[in-house]
Amino acid sequence: RNYRIAVIPGDGIGIEVVDAGLHVLDYLANESNGDFTFETDFFPWGCEYYLENGKMMDEDGVEKLSDYDAIYFGAVGFPGVPDHVSLWGLRLAICQGLDQWANIRPVEFLPGVPRRLNHPDVDNLNWILVRENSEGEYSGVGGRNFSGREGSNEVAVQSALFTEKGCERIIRFAFDLARTRKRKKVTSVTKSNAQQYGMVLWDEVFARVSKEYPDVETDQWLVDAMAAQFVLHPEELEVVVASNLFADILSDLGSALAGSLGIAASANLNPVKRTPSMFESVHGSAPDIAGKGIANPIGTIGSAALMLDHLGLSEEASRINQAIEETTRQGILTRDLGGTHNTAEITDAIIKNLSKR
Ligand code: NAI
Ligand code: MG
Repeated sequence: RNYRIAVIPGDGIGIEVVDAGLHVLDYLANESNGDFTFETDFFPWGCEYYLENGKMMDEDGVEKLSDYDAIYFGAVGFPGVPDHVSLWGLRLAICQGLDQWANIRPVEFLPGVPRRLNHPDVDNLNWILVRENSEGEYSGVGGRNFSGREGSNEVAVQSALFTEKGCERIIRFAFDLARTRKRKKVTSVTKSNAQQYGMVLWDEVFARVSKEYPDVETDQWLVDAMAAQFVLHPEELEVVVASNLFADILSDLGSALAGSLGIAASANLNPVKRTPSMFESVHGSAPDIAGKGIANPIGTIGSAALMLDHLGLSEEASRINQAIEETTRQGILTRDLGGTHNTAEITDAIIKNLSKR
């Protein structure tokens, strides 16, 4: 069958790593001899588009994306456009517009990759971070100039919004995911001592939903202590569910512990599949290394694997992951992992490893 994929390379290294991912997808489609094909449509949205058109994407952009099978995304943000303008104008507009309320971010060690986390009890990390992706601290509620005065007395308000429905669906999603895993455990992360409304609601929903999953072990942490737990007791974690902001921060920490931000994949899922889900690496547009051809494409190629899995091509998805592992095992690494290979060389090596079946 033919899968229609909307491709949004975005800015900076987003363009380079999406290109790498598309080479991998092309290889698989060619090899399948017509079993499946990928029809890719490119959308040139991002900061350059903003500078030319005064908007990050077309007004009907979300609608344009809504009948694709999936969206493959690079990264957004570049010096010259304020980060809150670019993020809200594109990535958040799509995630919220298409109701992609579950963001999953697996964290695993890769063979041959120097780890930043050395722990006597841990040979591999097997974490999945589940991020609430539709509300919380990124609800956009608030404003500037609340004092009515400009200048040094300005007051800005930024509210976090938690709905019972929003908490319940993401917590339930985490429990369902935990049930599919060898170790059935969900750790919930909040800061409900200091954030006394929304996060207390989250905790109450967690307690209620957990009763329906007696086979799943549970654990609850405050986010500051959880940051330490990531490093001190990684063996205690399996599925970790947290709010939009907290899971955003913890996932960068998790990927760094595994080796680099460049290896972390993610999926913004609309679990009811009424509208397309979006697949992107965890990292941003990395303006400091953009245009040099040295970005690590593994996070974005791994995100293509998550996309194929979501589309039902699970065998191809696991072959991509195996090819990534084989490549790092061979010591073919980008600079962020201590190697000397560039984006194109890693991508070629992954494709070569795919072809050895
Ligand atoms: P970043 O993730 O772009 O970069 C952080 C550091 O990690 C940089 O030193 C970068 O060189 C390195 N890095 C990231 N990805 C890498 C890769 N694949 N290979 C090798 N090194 C890699 O985060 P930063 O610098 O905070 O943000 C840069 C821009 O990206 C900003 O405009 C920000 O708003 C945007 N951003 C966009 C995201 C998205 O589109 N989902 C997510 C995070 C940030
Ligand atoms: Mg982030």
